[in-house]
Amino acid sequence: MIHKAAAVAASLAIVANGAQPEAPAPVAAPMRDLEWGQINFLHTTDIHGWLGGHLQEAQYSADWGDYVSFVEHMHRKANEKGVDLLIVDTGDRVEGNGLYDGSDPKGNYTYDIFGQQNLDILCTGNHELYQEDTVAREHSITVPHFKKSYIASNLDYIEPETGNQIPQAKRYIKFKTKNQNYTVVALGFIFDFDRNANNSVVVPVAETMKQEWFQSAIREKPDLFVVIGHVGLRMAEFEQIFKVIRDENWYTPIAFLGGHAHVRDARRFDDKAVAIASGRYFETIGWLSVDGISKRKTDVATSARAGVTFKRRYIDNNVLGLQYHAGVDEKNFTTAHGRNVSRMITEARKALNLDHKIGCAPKDLWMTRAQYPSNASIFTWLEKKVIPDTVINEERADKPRLTIVNTGAVRFDIFEGAFTKDSTYLISPFTSKFNYVPDVPYAVAKKVLQLLNNGGAVFQAGHLDTKYLSIPEQMAPSPFLGKEPSPPPHVARPIFYDGEQAQRPLVEDEDGGDNDGDDEEPELVNGYTTKDDLGDDGDDAVHSPIKFYSVPNCIQAQVAFPEAGDPETVDLVFIDYVQPWIIPALKFSGGDYDTDNITVYTNATLTDVIAEWVGKHWTEGC
Ligand SMILES: *[C@@H]1O[C@H](CO)[C@@H](O)[C@H](O)[C@H]1NC(C)=O
Ligand SMILES: *[C@@H]1O[C@H](CO)[C@@H](O)[C@H](O)[C@H]1NC(C)=O
Ligand SMILES: *[C@@H]1O[C@H](CO)[C@@H](O)[C@H](O)[C@H]1NC(C)=O
Ligand SMILES: *[C@@H]1O[C@H](CO)[C@@H](O)[C@H](O)[C@H]1NC(C)=O
Ligand SMILES: *[C@@H]1O[C@H](CO)[C@@H](O)[C@H](O)[C@H]1NC(C)=O
Ligand SMILES: *[C@@H]1O[C@H](CO)[C@@H](O)[C@H](O)[C@H]1NC(C)=O
Ligand SMILES: *[C@@H]1O[C@H](CO)[C@@H](O)[C@H](O)[C@H]1NC(C)=O
Ligand SMILES: *[C@@H]1O[C@H](CO)[C@@H](O)[C@H](O)[C@H]1NC(C)=O
Repeated sequence: MIHKAAAVAASLAIVANGAQPEAPAPVAAPMRDLEWGQINFLHTTDIHGWLGGHLQEAQYSADWGDYVSFVEHMHRKANEKGVDLLIVDTGDRVEGNGLYDGSDPKGNYTYDIFGQQNLDILCTGNHELYQEDTVAREHSITVPHFKKSYIASNLDYIEPETGNQIPQAKRYIKFKTKNQNYTVVALGFIFDFDRNANNSVVVPVAETMKQEWFQSAIREKPDLFVVIGHVGLRMAEFEQIFKVIRDENWYTPIAFLGGHAHVRDARRFDDKAVAIASGRYFETIGWLSVDGISKRKTDVATSARAGVTFKRRYIDNNVLGLQYHAGVDEKNFTTAHGRNVSRMITEARKALNLDHKIGCAPKDLWMTRAQYPSNASIFTWLEKKVIPDTVINEERADKPRLTIVNTGAVRFDIFEGAFTKDSTYLISPFTSKFNYVPDVPYAVAKKVLQLLNNGGAVFQAGHLDTKYLSIPEQMAPSPFLGKEPSPPPHVARPIFYDGEQAQRPLVEDEDGGDNDGDDEEPELVNGYTTKDDLGDDGDDAVHSPIKFYSVPNCIQAQVAFPEAGDPETVDLVFIDYVQPWIIPALKFSGGDYDTDNITVYTNATLTDVIAEWVGKHWTEGC
């Protein structure tokens, strides 16, 4: 059922007082309702520091304070209905937004802001594990803050003082739900990740499931298993866990909440086990409800008969939608606590000077919304403009070179308009520098890119999978990906923040109402049109579809080449993340190099060189 109630509120087109002052006015859309069950989940994943919301995309402009307010209202609603609501986050809270990456130490503000939400179950993502200091902060700040709800089923921490290897948090938790008194056993995993810093240990999922504690956990006979994880739904790990739990518990419903792939998705394992993934970057708040749960202890036979139903919805992080679902009008939406959290974010953004303008983007540049190569592709822009001009080692400047960057190093699009300090972190938050092998025969060097992009046997010896070079959306794709319908004839252009018209409403009507009364549907905004195992009605807001294009694992800039003919040798420059793949690729191509032959090309990061280029070239227009 689709409602247009939110549209009415939208016509007021003012920024709700919770969201950030720079946020564009939220946009209205026809809405699908949330369907409640006995146990309901609100789920975030892969927030990557975006606690301030999307300041250039009106349909995702609510902030973490708005979410705190929303959860308060939803808890009240759950209590009124006599059902339960559990709040979940599945990791990758760090890296990818100036609010996290812009401070020294990183996350100086975000841990506290994130910690304001009352979470019932949370776990760790791979981004909490790349750097030793991030692992340590997670252990010393977030784990104790959420000591009742943080789960680390397959993750250990190595204490720096003693060298002891200890569980990073609880292995699992068991609790009774507040209103329905259901017994829940919750587990929390990270996928079989192997590039973690050495003060952490990721135990492969298959091995974890042989451990004694796990074997007793799955024999606890709860009414519901909840398996959360920083795991893509189409990766192998959840399926492995499903099989082992199901073998021991034929009738118990299992709710999986995952992430990592940055997509909206739902997967049905059987009629009593469903998984959802709730997008990325705090664009999406996932909703999963489970109904028809029976109390196991009282009557095993009913368990066998009971029909469990799962419903899911992907909520746009849009204040109007949140108000709509909460059933609270704009005036009553922001709670005292939510307002405080929004204020914390505003103050942090100000202290970090995230709005500092570096330049003005003349047009939108897309990761996957434009074809690569093309003028609208951010990768073509990096390859043709940014890298040739800025990734330079002065002593080698005249040497022909091939510079390789993996597409996964880029995390977000560029929107026409102000390009700020924050933008640099949104696009590439990573600390990777550029390394190189000098004077590689061109015949050898020129084969490397193709190997990185095609993968295959070359990398098997090192257990390297080239999919990790690509963007998360492409690593374990849903069978529905790439099957979006073509846009309807009158597609609205996305309403992006353009600096001067920050408050432009989607419904182009200045006097605060739509002329034809309340019957008119708001114009559809471009957005997700998700298809998953449960159907095509998952998105809470009805969008017009966006087309997504696939990208290669790596791109390559060819710089300082001779006017005519091929160079004899080149410097093979690459972002250091790619190094483990570079050595076998060179060997396969006939170049016997190892780490001894690799040195630093420039200490600048991709973030640095982008900022430098924008400051020099995008000087006019906003
Ligand atoms: C870290 O945050 C505190 C306030 O929470 C502030 O006093 C301090 O200046 C911040 N430091 C940096 C380097 O951002
Ligand atoms: C849950 O348990 C409490 C007491 O422990 C009881 O008052 C309440 O009626 C129970 N609710 C349900 C739905 O069983
Ligand atoms: C991790 O490796 C670094 C250097 O690579 C070393 O300094 C540090 O002691 C190691 N830490 C642990 C916990 O092994
Ligand atoms: C909303 O706020 C108004 C006044 O600000 C109050 O009269 C009304 O009862 C509130 N509604 C709800 C549902 O709390
Ligand atoms: C909001 O912040 C103020 C001042 O920091 C504090 O006194 C108050 O208790 C906070 N309110 C809530 C609901 O968190
Ligand atoms: C891309 O940009 C170049 C230079 O600005 C221009 O010559 C070319 O026509 C553009 N191509 C497309 C497809 O727009
Ligand atoms: C790589 O470095 C080693 C040690 O410096 C050197 O002996 C070897 O010749 C280098 N390999 C190539 C192919 O240049
Ligand atoms: C990179 O930084 C290191 C340590 O500060 C320095 O020794 C080295 O010379 C730098 N390399 C380049 C290419 O700038």
